[in-house]
Amino acid sequence: MSEKIQIFDTTLRDGEQSPGCSMNLSEKLALARQLEKLGVDVIEAGFPIASEGDFESVRQVAEAVRGPSICGLARTGRADVERAAAAVEPAARPRIHTFIATSDIHLKHKLRMSRAEVLEEVVRAVEQARGYVDDVEFSAEDATRSDPDYLVEVFSAALEAGATTLNVPDTVGYTTPGEYGALMATLLERVPDSARAVFSVHCHNDLGLAVSNSLTAVQAGARQIECTVNGIGERAGNASLEEIVMALRVRPDQAQGLDTGIVASEIYPSSRLLSSITGVQVQLNKAIVGDNAFAHEAGIHQDGVLKAAITYEIMTPESIGRASNELVLGKHSGRHAFKDRLEELGLRVDGDEFERSFRRFKDLADAKKVIYNEDIEAIVADSVVAVDDRFTLKGLTITSGDATAPRASVEMVVDGESCNTVATGVGPVDAIFAAITELTDTQSELIRYQVHAVTAGLDAQGEVSVTIEEGGRRVIGNGVHEDVMVASGKAYVHAINKLEWHKKRRGADEPKGI
Ligand code: KIV
Ligand code: ZN
Repeated sequence: MSEKIQIFDTTLRDGEQSPGCSMNLSEKLALARQLEKLGVDVIEAGFPIASEGDFESVRQVAEAVRGPSICGLARTGRADVERAAAAVEPAARPRIHTFIATSDIHLKHKLRMSRAEVLEEVVRAVEQARGYVDDVEFSAEDATRSDPDYLVEVFSAALEAGATTLNVPDTVGYTTPGEYGALMATLLERVPDSARAVFSVHCHNDLGLAVSNSLTAVQAGARQIECTVNGIGERAGNASLEEIVMALRVRPDQAQGLDTGIVASEIYPSSRLLSSITGVQVQLNKAIVGDNAFAHEAGIHQDGVLKAAITYEIMTPESIGRASNELVLGKHSGRHAFKDRLEELGLRVDGDEFERSFRRFKDLADAKKVIYNEDIEAIVADSVVAVDDRFTLKGLTITSGDATAPRASVEMVVDGESCNTVATGVGPVDAIFAAITELTDTQSELIRYQVHAVTAGLDAQGEVSVTIEEGGRRVIGNGVHEDVMVASGKAYVHAINKLEWHKKRRGADEPKGI
């Protein structure tokens, strides 16, 4: 019998704080639904006092996602806790997560508070939160640089005040496995009645130790791990969910009977969905979910794998939901077959989203010989994250080559009206962007343009991500199409629509990080 480690997913909160990873409401909902399928125990859906948008997304996730606990973050201030309580109120299992720093460095330079004042704040905030919900988590920010004696005092007071989870963040990614495991053991031993609370770990990856630190601390007695899909998060990121889960699964002999409730076959679809929403691809050699994680390049390895996969493979791609690259559907497949395939891939898509996905699938099936599972995932991600768009790309034609100036003829619908124009540029992408900029009458600056092949093969779909900035707001748009130029136009329009979405909310909705 294994003992369960709870997975607290903070992709939508700490993860979203990483540069380029901000998500809009429909994207957060799509990801939260996927996290539910992945089987996480807690979803930290946002920081409700940070902005109207954050509040609304926590509230809507709380309404829509009924399996996991839904958590809202709050500093210890009254207004923060009240706002978090209101945001998680519709949840089947609401949690309030309140935090304050406990290291002398933070007390002196950031909070300008004494240890006694911080202690008072902790008790007040936890008691206030318990007035709203039964499930209250308290975090001692920068715990790993705090005086352990003071930490014992703070956690004891938080437990006494009613906290049910006590989190020990390595906020700046400073600790090491030995030190962190020992700190966890000390806290469990010295906090009176520590067994009444779940001790939790939250590790940042500044030294590349976030996963090792988390695993060491659970071996010392912690029972909740806070982590993110693809390890996204502030600076070098948070502990990566997929690495933690698979380390425990692949090495049960080392896991001391500990396991998570994660549905491993949903790991890869979750990773892909997040990348397609944010446009941030994981590095090629990223453990578990990187493109090369299961690629065997050296002849001697290939030979071994062909004879027996176990020679060089410690887990199968299928075990994390990376379907082998097989033909899944063709151009004669109908709605029913497409729906069945979506279900097999664990993609829940209904109504307009289904219709949009199906139309994209048929177009792709006309243009591309082989359709892989990854193609279908990319189509669905592309169709599901569409928001109430002001701008729609209807068509584009390109003329380019070494003997002619690149020209793009672009048709769009802008605020319900059809329009078109022709523009030139230094290259075909530049020409497309110039035409779209003219039709949408926008003026963002292009920061980054990336192309990624969704699958192998010369007829692979291109996934383009475009980062643009306007008025200090940076957004990423994505587009997928078998023609990279069309994917580029779609990605640019997607990004401009996101900027418009932010503009509509400006004022009430300026992000305030922690
Ligand atoms: O890293 C950190 O300390 C945090 C807390 C809010 C838990 O993200
Ligand atoms: Zn953090």
